Amino acid sequence: MTNLNAVMLPLLLVEDNAGDARLIQIMLAEVGGFQISWVDRLSKALVAIPDGNFGAVLLDLSLPDARGMEGIDAIRHLAPTLPVVILTGLDDEEMGRCAVRHGCQDYLVKGQGEGNLIRRTLIYAIERKAVEEERRQNAETLKRILMQTVRTISLALEMRDPYTTGHQRRVAQLAVAIGLRLGLDEFRLEGLKTGSLIHDIGKLHVPAEFLSRPGRLSVEAFQVVKMHPSLGAEIIRNIEFPWPVATMIQQHHERVDGSGYPCGVKGDDIILEARIIAVADVFEAIVSHRPYRPALGLKAAFDEIRLHSGERYDAAVVDACIAVVEEKGEQPFDSED
Ligand SMILES: [Fe+2]
Repeated sequence: MTNLNAVMLPLLLVEDNAGDARLIQIMLAEVGGFQISWVDRLSKALVAIPDGNFGAVLLDLSLPDARGMEGIDAIRHLAPTLPVVILTGLDDEEMGRCAVRHGCQDYLVKGQGEGNLIRRTLIYAIERKAVEEERRQNAETLKRILMQTVRTISLALEMRDPYTTGHQRRVAQLAVAIGLRLGLDEFRLEGLKTGSLIHDIGKLHVPAEFLSRPGRLSVEAFQVVKMHPSLGAEIIRNIEFPWPVATMIQQHHERVDGSGYPCGVKGDDIILEARIIAVADVFEAIVSHRPYRPALGLKAAFDEIRLHSGERYDAAVVDACIAVVEEKGEQPFDSED
């Protein structure tokens, strides 16, 4: 990490009061270490930041073109990794906490500190921001690794059952599109994608010959196939997903009228994600080619979910599925996502 004491730090001072700006510059010049650019408007700061290579921003909260949190929000939006320290005339603790929640690193009140305090505050703000950024990047990496792992597990199952190659990926695509249509937030959509990608993981326990010809299964074989949701939920039970993935897997063959398996739960006792996966799963299975039959086509898939809307399948999910597929036209699934 750069030794912040050894370099002149480019600092952007955003302060509309020329007298205050002058005073701050004098105080910081006394302690040294800063190369200060001064602007008196937020709009000018937003122009200066992209090319300024600033190490930090010292920001007044009451500017002619920005009040309260507006300045912080605009700078954070433009340069999310740039540390911002407030230096304001408003001695208001609640305002200070609010500013920190909006993403600035610290809150100083004019007249309550001299140059050394401002200098130290800025340096610690930069260090804290660097740590925060490193943590954010680590979290992003872990999230990516989690999704890659989930995809790998998904592919592992499909390698064993090549007749349904891409099934879980296509179900995930459709389920997420339905979830988006139903207004699920980004976090829930990530969970829905995860659950969809591994919804059939329990089929690892099902003999491969039972999987390739589900239309001709004996009663005994079907009893085994019917265990796959519970087995799947059991397989991933110890993974601490931040979403109810085990329940999505457990319930993806349940039906809202209670006619599904393995438990015969009904209506809202089936979580929304599982109701979405159920419709996407059936839809994809009908539309796609299987070794024992050709693809049955979009019309057959629409007929099935419309016919049982509100009975087997959640009516709102069916409507959303129809809407998203109709938007996509003849090719409801992308070849890759
Ligand atoms: Fe399944």
